[in-house]
Amino acid sequence: MTLDGSGSPRSLDPSRPRVQAGPMAETYHHEPPYTIGVICGSIAASSINRRLARALIKLAPPALQCSFIEIDQLDLYDRDRDDAYPPEAVELKRAITEADGILIVTPEYNRSIPGALKNAIDWASRPYGENALNRKPVGIIGTSPGGIGTAVGQQHLKTIMSFCNAPMMNEIEAYVQYKDGLVDDDDDVTVESTKEFLSTYMAAYDDFVRRVLTVLPKADGSTAAG
Ligand code: FNR
Repeated sequence: MTLDGSGSPRSLDPSRPRVQAGPMAETYHHEPPYTIGVICGSIAASSINRRLARALIKLAPPALQCSFIEIDQLDLYDRDRDDAYPPEAVELKRAITEADGILIVTPEYNRSIPGALKNAIDWASRPYGENALNRKPVGIIGTSPGGIGTAVGQQHLKTIMSFCNAPMMNEIEAYVQYKDGLVDDDDDVTVESTKEFLSTYMAAYDDFVRRVLTVLPKADGSTAAG
């Protein structure tokens, strides 16, 4: 898709300013910084997706204040508990509601998403009418050792997020093949071209969050700052 007629994808053009100067700046309802909840779809302690998530947090532009939202303590979703959510689910909904955006970093399990992630989304989306993901700008990314790099799982996740009415960043897509040592113990990406790509991804996500929050102020009308 080209927006500027130059033939190059807008968000891949490094020379383009990411924040509009002049009168356009006044149209932003949500000034930075933006709080971003990072959900890792894997609950494994040795998760390569958590490694990737930590690296992405380190590469994020200063406008994005990222912190993890954990999903490993949740019971299995049970609609009989809609009237009395367990504390872990209440906390999940609070964290998602208060975040300006959600970044999901997930493996692909059996050509879909892990059950733990689906379970968290189910809790977050209920009770009916109280969907915490509604209008929440979402970035989706993942890594796997295989060449497909979680592409099929991400497509399933996009279907789910679409139903949850969460605007998604469709460009840039990121399907990262994980090779041993790609992210070191200091959360640094060791392959320069991948590091550059992931930095570009986070810059594009920053841009996306700004744009979504500009046209879709938070449901309660509050600003990011307030
Ligand atoms: C996998 N794996 C996998 N990989 C893939 O590319 N496509 C797939 O459909 C699956 N399916 C799958 C199912 C199950 C149950 C497991 C445990 C694993 C392999 C997967 O990519 C690999 O284990 C990653 O290391 C998982 O990510 P984390 O947990 O390390 O972040």
